[in-house]
Amino acid sequence: MTTPAAVITDSAAYAQAVEDAVKASAAYYTGGTSVLDDDAYDRLVHGIAAWEADHPDQVLPDSPTGKVAGGAVEGDVPHTVAMLSLDNVFSAEEFTAWTASLARRIGREVERFSVEPKLDGLAVAARYTGGRLRQLITRGDGTAGEDVSHAIGTIEGLPDELAEPVTVEVRGEVLMTTAQFEHGNEVRTAHGGQPFANPRGAAAGTLRAKERAYTVPMTFFGYGLLPLPGTATDLGVRLGELAHSDLMVQAAAYGINTTAGTAVPGITADTVEQALARVEEIAAARAELPFGIDGIVIKADLAADQQQAGSGSRAPRWAIAYKLPAVEKITRLLAVEWNVGRTGIIAPRAVLEPVEIDGATITYATLHNPADITRRDLRLGDHVMVHRAGDVIPRIEAPVAHLRTGDEQPVAFPEVCPRCGSGIDTSEQRWRCEQGRSCHLVAALSYAAGRDQLDIEGLGHTRIVQLVDAGLVADLAGLFALTREQLLGLERMGETSADNLLAAIAAAKAQPLSRVLCALGVRGTGRSMSRRIARHFATMDNIRAADAAAMQQVEGIGTEKAPSIVAELAELAPLIDKLATAGVTMTEPGVTPPTSGGDTGDADGNAEPVGGPLAGMTVVVTGAMTGPLEDLSRNQMNDLIERAGGRSSSSVSKKTTLVVAGEGAGSKRAKAEDLGIRLATPDEFAALVADYLN
Ligand code: IVH
Repeated sequence: MTTPAAVITDSAAYAQAVEDAVKASAAYYTGGTSVLDDDAYDRLVHGIAAWEADHPDQVLPDSPTGKVAGGAVEGDVPHTVAMLSLDNVFSAEEFTAWTASLARRIGREVERFSVEPKLDGLAVAARYTGGRLRQLITRGDGTAGEDVSHAIGTIEGLPDELAEPVTVEVRGEVLMTTAQFEHGNEVRTAHGGQPFANPRGAAAGTLRAKERAYTVPMTFFGYGLLPLPGTATDLGVRLGELAHSDLMVQAAAYGINTTAGTAVPGITADTVEQALARVEEIAAARAELPFGIDGIVIKADLAADQQQAGSGSRAPRWAIAYKLPAVEKITRLLAVEWNVGRTGIIAPRAVLEPVEIDGATITYATLHNPADITRRDLRLGDHVMVHRAGDVIPRIEAPVAHLRTGDEQPVAFPEVCPRCGSGIDTSEQRWRCEQGRSCHLVAALSYAAGRDQLDIEGLGHTRIVQLVDAGLVADLAGLFALTREQLLGLERMGETSADNLLAAIAAAKAQPLSRVLCALGVRGTGRSMSRRIARHFATMDNIRAADAAAMQQVEGIGTEKAPSIVAELAELAPLIDKLATAGVTMTEPGVTPPTSGGDTGDADGNAEPVGGPLAGMTVVVTGAMTGPLEDLSRNQMNDLIERAGGRSSSSVSKKTTLVVAGEGAGSKRAKAEDLGIRLATPDEFAALVADYLN
């Protein structure tokens, strides 16, 4: 999709548009915050370009179309080779057309492409002399940039010393990961500063700031490696001849951070189709990345192809940015709502002036807890930077502090539970209604009856509301005491429906412990954690007997979570007793409970899974499952692995025994190959666990 252009009708509007764009661009490159978000800026520049195409004689000298992007900052350190920008494409068609024009220009098809994420930070050149980092320069206007060497030592991935004593220039992007940004804003506001609106602006502002009382870490990703005056001749020649992908391997070997270690490593592609497939993969991974990307950069990989294509004054002809839709927009925070969840947690939610981001109209964003609001210094009426990518729930990155008028109002925190009026337990970060689970019983029961929990067919939200309103159930155990007569007394409940519902409730008693545990809605545990706990302890009695130390033996439960899970289980004890009395399953099939002094438990008295083809193995699943596994969600795959005696894990490490790599598998597969870990296709894996597939 091409960004629609802003419509410019006359030369006055054109001049204004150029002025606005120049201001926005200056703010963008100097760490100030523009009133224009990326999308609005792109539209404006498109409009300017369209008008200029019709009025070539009236083009203004400072038009953003004519110069190297980032030209707003005049620096005093000349670049040895100009730091260029990139031209953009917005669709597969435009990309394909670009590859065709590149092929025409060099007189042959491009031999190979390299495809890597377009990191959303700012470009810097890092000069190493004899292996030591001596100077750090921003891009500036492309020919000269600002010396920001004071930031040396605060940028992860840009070591003070390389693994070899070489003299080279490394180019790449400085950015803040989401975690660094949040931390950075916290530190900044704690020192009385105004929060930065987004990670990009935060990185730009932080990089240029001198003599701050505090340091905020940033991250560097290299995407270029070139000789400097002083580089040994043979190394200089070699760098000039290496393919881009090989330069990245060399940079990594020097100790420079590259995309290789991320979920979206740079790869090479032999065809346009392969390059486009990688674009799709990176786009799909975007929402889950711990740092921002605004597109994908595709380069002719070979030095010979690059040299032949050459460069224009603004951008190389051998590389292109495939832009992804903007995921950030500025809108206003209208209100904060407080909703009670199924466990009684009172969670704030931001109500926004509706804003369209990547085709969806966003009216709400998550806020985690009251402290989160205070920490971010959010005020009602604030302009806020909203981030929304993929299916991830939109979030507010930060207020746009410089747009404040002074009329903004503090966010009011509730004094009583907004649902039932009871008191609020504010002893933890997440506030909770003193009635706990009983406060929003309908939500608790809906969750328990859900597909991944007790899977009670016919017990949807409306039915549960009926049951609760009629006073027939006061907790989860109440479901199992329902009688046919009680059900028949409900509106729109015929004999068949009543019988079916009773049968479905009765069937739920046979669900394994892992699902029962999940249905209880223990805070801090979801489906997979419940499964791990159930498999570790085998019986509800063992789980209830576990103290925090024993709970911590379960993979994924750390020192923080363990005591809160133990406390939750104690709170749930009366309910668990009632469920057990009602005949609900309290054991996990396929796992043998430890007997006192028996031989099936390990030294900690934990249960051990019995045998299975994956006994003792740690298995990671990545990419799309096909064949017999096609319909299995990740959750179901993990369940399958554990039933077959293995452990499931989401990340590849030395402890991994097997990686099931489906189509589109990326970094995890590569890592497995690096570590020499056994790989299996979905079909091979299906054969291995055939007895456990149902
Ligand atoms: S290559 C001459 N690779 O995007 C080639 N640039 O919009 C120019 N960027 O100025 C750079 N990720 O700041 C390249 N993997 C990547 C990149 C990347 C982000 C930035 C860079 C550049 C801007 C152009």
